[in-house]
Amino acid sequence: MQTTVRPAAGIAGNKDFLPLLGTDHIEFYVGNARQAAHYYKTAFGFRSLAYAGPETGSKDKVSYVIRQQKIILVLTTPLRPDNEIADHIYRHGDGVKALALRVDDARDAWQQTTRRGAESFLEPTGLKDDRGVIKLSGIRTYGDTVHLFVERQYYHGIFLPGFVKWEPGYQPSETGLLHVDHCVGNVGWNGMNRWVGFYENVMGFKNILSFDDKDISTEYSALMSKVMSNGNGYVKFPINEPAEGKRKSQVEEFLDYYGGEGVQHIAVATNDIVATVRRLQFRGVEFLQVPHTYYDDLKKRVGDIDEDIEALAELGILVDRDEEGYLLQIFTKPVEDRPTLFFEIIQRKGARSFGKGNFKALFEAIEREQALRGNL
Ligand code: FE2
Repeated sequence: MQTTVRPAAGIAGNKDFLPLLGTDHIEFYVGNARQAAHYYKTAFGFRSLAYAGPETGSKDKVSYVIRQQKIILVLTTPLRPDNEIADHIYRHGDGVKALALRVDDARDAWQQTTRRGAESFLEPTGLKDDRGVIKLSGIRTYGDTVHLFVERQYYHGIFLPGFVKWEPGYQPSETGLLHVDHCVGNVGWNGMNRWVGFYENVMGFKNILSFDDKDISTEYSALMSKVMSNGNGYVKFPINEPAEGKRKSQVEEFLDYYGGEGVQHIAVATNDIVATVRRLQFRGVEFLQVPHTYYDDLKKRVGDIDEDIEALAELGILVDRDEEGYLLQIFTKPVEDRPTLFFEIIQRKGARSFGKGNFKALFEAIEREQALRGNL
């Protein structure tokens, strides 16, 4: 079972009309941002960075910004019931609102994408304070999710104008998480082509990898997945669609509980997955577990690896190899009560693929949880 990642755009004179510098931040709309920030700090090792709320002139919402290395999460809660953020939480529960991308020119990013058919979420806007100026714009993607374009080369403040430094006494240690590797969206039945087309035509991404329901099916359920990548490969958005199986697809369960399409998981990279997962487990993060038999033929399947297989088995870390190298990965259980958003921890050792060899073991683990919830 060989997996090769096709090169993305930006090749052979194809000018990338939407050059992206990477993920700027991810904003969640949550029911209680103060407590969510505490959870991500305590459990995942994020540290307080910035705050905006009534004390800083934000009358209707509060936002806590937390950071670990290059990963910045913004946790936002409305202070009153009748507004778009409250409606979002009522419908979706806690979830990702914005996948914000760093650009050199937020106005151009907005013009290039809206000209190609994107629906505007935020017209190009300048935000200013004594530390400089940030330019922001935004477009809508699947469900109620949006992409913000953030231009920050003329800004020297802590996060965005309107935010102050958040420096509490409580700053737990980091767990080794480094940067966002990819963010996966779940879309509805027959939604795949529409959203693959959106990322290709509106954002200039390329489909670098596809999995059909034969690749991703268990005895009971199935899904399809296509990985979309921008030109330089810094931003990767796999898209999942449910497929017909004997029982309910995990993507369908997500759609039911999230109340529509949305971000299914955020994959974050580490350089030492064994140490990172040990710390996360100690701090209370719960992971999906595969049966111990997964490790019986691991060496035969992936060949020689640097890590101690016993340590991987003890922690439940999965391994897969492609033509370029191998990767190690593990998935958390959902991080809120609805069976919706979860995190993936990934360490890449040459491999640029997504762990196709683990799909079956992984999805069986997901289905065991689904069955416990009565949804399989
Ligand atoms: Fe993933």
